[in-house]
Formats: sequence, structure tokens, C-alpha cells
Amino acid sequence: MPFSDEALMQRAQAARKRAYAPYSKFHVGAALRAKDGTVFEGVNVENASYGVGLCAERAAVVSAVTAGYREFDAIAIAGPPETATVPCGACRQFLNEFNPELTVFYTEAGGAQRTTLDELLPRAFGPQNLT
Ligand code: THU
Repeated sequence: MPFSDEALMQRAQAARKRAYAPYSKFHVGAALRAKDGTVFEGVNVENASYGVGLCAERAAVVSAVTAGYREFDAIAIAGPPETATVPCGACRQFLNEFNPELTVFYTEAGGAQRTTLDELLPRAFGPQNLT
């Protein structure tokens, strides 16, 4: 991974320490990079009403959009080191809204992997499908 991509994953790893996941104990951090290089972090935020919990990836998008950013080039996702943490289906759809070609770095046993959103969510439904 080039330095800036590695730094992005380090931001995700750092954010992961702030995850609020008392129910699943599955702590996730995300770092979303805007095209100008600004990075927004997110963590999963669970809830006593289990179904309303939020994933780290969507938390990062919400943070970025709230700050006025809508153009992103990469997201890094850090989960427990012993398993792969790739975005769930809902997060793939949420990310697709802003960049179907987003680079996605995720952790898998042994290190960081790189993929793209269009590999994870082919033939996505997006803004272009609305008339
Ligand atoms: N989770 C994320 O935050 N991101 C992912 O990519 C996978 C799953 C969260 C949701 C829930 O709080 C916990 O991890 C277990 O599914």
C-alpha cells in the first residue's frame, strides 16, 4: 500500500478503538478519504434496540456529508484482526451513492486488502436509475 493508503488504514485502526459495540463486541473503524485528501472517521454505534445500530462505514459517510463533502476516492475499514471485515450490503449501497468506483481497503487475517466498490456491488442501483 502506498503511504497515504497506509495512513488511511491507520486512521481506521485508530478510530476502531472508539467503536461502541457492547452487544456484538465486534469493533469496527472506518476512514473515508475525500478527493481533496480530507479524512473522515466513523465507528460502529450499536444500540440496546439492536436493529438500529449503525455500521462504521455509514457513520463515516454521515460525518463527511455533514461537513459538506460528497466526493470520495477511498475508504479503509478496520475490524477484528482475525477475520475479514468487508462492508455489509447496506453500506455498499450507501457508499455507491457517492462513488461506485470507490477504492475499498479492508482488513483480513494477515493484512490489508484492496478492492473497489463496483467489484463488491456490481450492477448497482444508483442516482442514475431515478428518472
Ligand atoms: N459492522 C460494521 O460496522 N462494518 C462492517 O463492515 C461489518 C459490520 C458492525 C455492525 C455491528 O455493529 C457489528 O459490526 C457486528 O455486525
